[in-house]
Amino acid sequence: MKRELFSSKIGFILAAAGSAVGIGNLVAFPVMASQNGGAAFLIMYAFFVFFICLPVMLAEMSLGRHTRQNPHGAYSKIGQSPLWNGVGWLAVITPFMIGVFYLVITVWIFGYLAKAVMGQLDTLAQDGAFGLFINSNELYLYMAVVIGLTFLILQSGVKQGIERAATYLMPALFVMLLLLVGYVLTLDNAMLGVQFFLIPDFSKINVQVLTDSLAQAFFSLSLAMGILITYGSYIQKNNDIVGAGKMVAGLSLLVACCAGLLILPAVFWSDPTIDPSELTDSSIGMIFMVLPKIFLALQQDIGFFGASFVASFFFLLVFFAAMTSLISIIEVPVASLMDTKGISRRRSLITLGVVMVALSVLSALSFGRVDWLTSFLSYGGADKSFFDVIMDVFYYSILPLNGLLLCLFVIYRWKKVNLHAEMREGNPDFEGSLMQKYIDVSLGTFIPAILAVIFLLNVLGRFF
Ligand code: PHE
Repeated sequence: MKRELFSSKIGFILAAAGSAVGIGNLVAFPVMASQNGGAAFLIMYAFFVFFICLPVMLAEMSLGRHTRQNPHGAYSKIGQSPLWNGVGWLAVITPFMIGVFYLVITVWIFGYLAKAVMGQLDTLAQDGAFGLFINSNELYLYMAVVIGLTFLILQSGVKQGIERAATYLMPALFVMLLLLVGYVLTLDNAMLGVQFFLIPDFSKINVQVLTDSLAQAFFSLSLAMGILITYGSYIQKNNDIVGAGKMVAGLSLLVACCAGLLILPAVFWSDPTIDPSELTDSSIGMIFMVLPKIFLALQQDIGFFGASFVASFFFLLVFFAAMTSLISIIEVPVASLMDTKGISRRRSLITLGVVMVALSVLSALSFGRVDWLTSFLSYGGADKSFFDVIMDVFYYSILPLNGLLLCLFVIYRWKKVNLHAEMREGNPDFEGSLMQKYIDVSLGTFIPAILAVIFLLNVLGRFF
């Protein structure tokens, strides 16, 4: 079967940016920035994006395009050993499992979107509403819709499915985000939020903040999940990977900054005396518990329809962002199964879909509904749900490990000369550039070392 490719560089950039821009940028970033010194956090985060994450991103894209394979295929084709073959499998199983928890969160977002459209802000804003919602039966209806949509997009293939979805959803997302920022900035006390976001407080930065923000930048750019290897395998030879990678990193950062200018002013509008860093410690808490209250309060100002409209608009924005990330992560195992078994896209999707649905239902049931799933395992001094275990094992532990292995693989097994040759395609000036030298040194030394530290800290912190 001939491999389908993206039709253009811009198509690829939008698809990859669609993967990168997600709940991480829109909500996790503003929450983390508000807890960790505002612009001080932003500066550090931007530094990580360009100096630590970008080289990894470019390596993944190059590896994918060179091998024209999914991650497992890429590792085994070049690695030629059982060890790298195993690493290749890890690079496929990880996105699959992260896909499970991302699907569950996307379903929650879709549910909140549906409820906002139905004008149920007062229900959403009640204390305890989130807990009731995630344990309700209607959740499975929303799950069916999200899975159906994901299936439809992926079933249509690389160009007609992934690329087309991104070329509609991403521009829509940018426009919606700008409109919402514009609106929020007109609200009373919005400038307090802008100040809070933009005035740096360097005293908040410590080792924990450093490692957390790097891990967040890594996740947010969709690194180490095999996504950029897979999408890279669909890039045309004459497209400039380095330029495309910079665009993707820049867009993702830009969206994160805009999201800060959206969320923090809204928080200060609702209470000018607030300390946002104490509001909630998670992006989940922000989307599902804090923001609905703000939308409901807005009702006093602009009426029921106005507030429902703004809320629906916001949840639609987050939903678009989540969908383009979700399809990118599910494409990894789908492509892997197609490549290794030589089966059609449809068969691959159906096979994986069945397992994925089963695991997602188990995760969704692990928030108190079914006892053995709610206290699935016990470690690190606490009972962990099925959902928590997936997060701890795949997101917190194997993700940085995959990143580390990828750096070592590219530099010491695939070798620098081959990486250079691939990056030069479509960008002849790359040879001998400062960027090239930086990538060589960083990927072979301190980037894997930093990832090793994050891996160890997370494993020690979570399991012991
Ligand atoms: N970049 C996504 C985000 O910021 C993370 C992600 C991408 C998660 C792809 C899953 C799949 O939310």
